[in-house]
Amino acid sequence: MAARADRHMLYQRAVQEPAAEVAFISAEFRRLRNRRALRLREDFCGTAAVCCAWVKSGRDRTAVGVDLSRPTLDWGIGHNLARLTPDQRGRVTLLERNVLKPGPRGRGADVVMAGNFSWWVFTTRADLLRYFRGVRAALAVGGVFILDIYGGWESMKEQRDRRVIGGKERGFTYIWDQAKFDPVTNRMTAHIHFRMRDGSRQRRSFTYEWRLWTIPEVRDALADAGFARTIVYWEGEDKDGEGDGNFTPAEHAEQCPAFISYIAALE
Ligand SMILES: C[S@@+](CC[C@H](N)C(=O)[O-])C[C@H]1O[C@@H](n2cnc3c(N)ncnc32)[C@H](O)[C@@H]1O
Repeated sequence: MAARADRHMLYQRAVQEPAAEVAFISAEFRRLRNRRALRLREDFCGTAAVCCAWVKSGRDRTAVGVDLSRPTLDWGIGHNLARLTPDQRGRVTLLERNVLKPGPRGRGADVVMAGNFSWWVFTTRADLLRYFRGVRAALAVGGVFILDIYGGWESMKEQRDRRVIGGKERGFTYIWDQAKFDPVTNRMTAHIHFRMRDGSRQRRSFTYEWRLWTIPEVRDALADAGFARTIVYWEGEDKDGEGDGNFTPAEHAEQCPAFISYIAALE
């Protein structure tokens, strides 16, 4: 089963929730700017799942996805864009480019979104600032930059986290493997593996060489890049103490072993 399984399909089912992402971005943009966000730039878009959800969420919405990997973009075209109507597809532009140089078609976005911590690929503050300054310059007037981040003491542990992804016919186990963490540099190596129902495995389907950034470091860098204000969104808890998927602005929070949070940066 593992040999036949499609790693991008497994990835999307395990770690992406594009409709929820779009709902969060839309609601927050309206709350902050009192208007609808129309043009999205999805940085590190991979298979462009969020671009597709964005154009589906409104006939007046357009999306630009930026990613370096031609094969990953092609997978997105063949599997995600292929499911859109011709009108929706016509409102998505995919750029095979470095997010540091997205070019003129990457300009004028109401929202630039960098999801699933992909911006951790920048391992020096100089590169991170270069990226943030570029995003700021590319935003439309009143535009908002939204990125996500994870943290908590477990984020620095060499450990494996397993999650069963449901579905009687199509269930599998997603394994997030924090293989190496260097406390001097905060550089980390992480892999994603998948274990199928018959016990077969796809090992190292994805590997990330990242630097773990913390919320205060990022807020400082965003300020240095010229953003006037940053907002941190903290997730609420359900009755079992698990994240409930509702993110609200917070200047303080209780410590916890692992969290995912959003940061918005504004003019
Ligand atoms: C963790 S995946 C993120 C996929 C998707 N955006 C998500 O939220 O799950 C990281 C993606 O970033 C792309 N990437 C890495 N460095 C990049 C860069 N400097 N510019 C553009 N894309 C980059 C990789 O090709 C890969 O598709």
